[in-house]
Amino acid sequence: MIRPPSFAYRRIVSSAVRHPERELFCDAVPLAGLAEEYGTPLYVYSALAIRTRLSAFDAAFRGIRHTVCYSVKANSSLAILRLVARAGHGFDIVSGGELERVLWASPRSASRIVFSGVGKTRDEITRALRAGILLFNVESASELRVLAETAERFNRQARVAIRVNPDLPAKTHPYISTGLRHHKFGVPIPDAERLYAEAARHPALRVAGVSVHIGSQISDVRSFAAAIERVASFVVRLRRAGHSIHYVDGGGGLAIPYNGSRPDFRRQFSAYARAVSRPLRGLGVHLLLEPGRAIVGPAGVLLTRVLYRKTNGGRRFLIVDAAMNDLIRPTLYGAQHEIVPVRLTHAGAARGEKTDVVGPICETGDFFARRIHLPGIPEGALLAILDTGAYGASLGSNLNSRLKPPEILVDGRSARRIRRRERAGDLIRLESL
Ligand code: LLP
Repeated sequence: MIRPPSFAYRRIVSSAVRHPERELFCDAVPLAGLAEEYGTPLYVYSALAIRTRLSAFDAAFRGIRHTVCYSVKANSSLAILRLVARAGHGFDIVSGGELERVLWASPRSASRIVFSGVGKTRDEITRALRAGILLFNVESASELRVLAETAERFNRQARVAIRVNPDLPAKTHPYISTGLRHHKFGVPIPDAERLYAEAARHPALRVAGVSVHIGSQISDVRSFAAAIERVASFVVRLRRAGHSIHYVDGGGGLAIPYNGSRPDFRRQFSAYARAVSRPLRGLGVHLLLEPGRAIVGPAGVLLTRVLYRKTNGGRRFLIVDAAMNDLIRPTLYGAQHEIVPVRLTHAGAARGEKTDVVGPICETGDFFARRIHLPGIPEGALLAILDTGAYGASLGSNLNSRLKPPEILVDGRSARRIRRRERAGDLIRLESL
């Protein structure tokens, strides 16, 4: 169970235990020590893993002019945004809140922000115009009109790409597939042509690109190639009609493995890069990419402690101190995150058992795994829920008035708390009696 580059077991030498033990580390830092210091549940991220994946992703596209715009929604922690900015990359945002986060973490990144989303409000558009973002990915005729009006009122010019809906299926969970005709996203290509003509006529708008995003957790790169092929031929048509198309925004969506298999991510990134770049060959466009999960997903774990063991109707449960408010992916998308013990003892490894790993929330949907095989885990033991760096903390809530967990960023030998544990006072801070 070696998890390159950052989460791996290491043998620990201790005179207190008779059996050799192995413990899960994040880079040079033992996770058990972090759980001791900061309590559980606890999110831990590896800065090294994020940097490594970012540079590998970037390097995969070395054959084409491009900018990586990290998708903030995957993990919007300020410290991670700053790390991404310092590595020289841009950002993909979908709300005013995400814009503020990026500006807070890295004010100079404004000119590397692309703004997608079907429901941008006038206020959000105004703030983004004032900040001077790189590109608005417009998703409807009405939004285009609002953008034009707002830009005119504030005497700005907005760079515009129309997000097209390529009407292509993508093999993924239906909640995160976005490229079919009946989805709310983007504009069908035949209608988009009209919007480009409209945008070109408006002095406050500048036509700059075409964007597409077909969904998330997509592992078959042929789906991306198919979408980009449609975009590429559309770019040719738009140019013939006199539009200047400088950017193609290929969106995000590349999958990560959740099942414990460890294919070489560099090769996966290269295959993805080939699929996306090839249809654009000869067009001379600047490619924008919006990866989220592929950058931060494998770079994080959620640590949780077993509170109780119980058996009901013959079914074994490990009740842990994390819950669906901390990580909703298993119940919302049926995601199967690998769960491993932080400490592997010889004795424990021998006795395996089928068990459910569940949280304390009052819903049967509050589970992390059902009927998985784990070594005998005693009460008080620590578990790590893997590959939770993306859409873990960023989808967290206060369901059941639970306090959100702290987040730790490990960088080599050092560990830094980048968000403190919520306190009861945080829960009621905005309320009045
Ligand atoms: N660009 C746009 C316009 C998007 O809507 C998204 C994701 C991305 C980029 C980044 O996609 P990624 O590279 O991370 O797949 N909460 C779900 C995922 C929702 C994705 C929404 N949009 C989950 O936990 O699986």
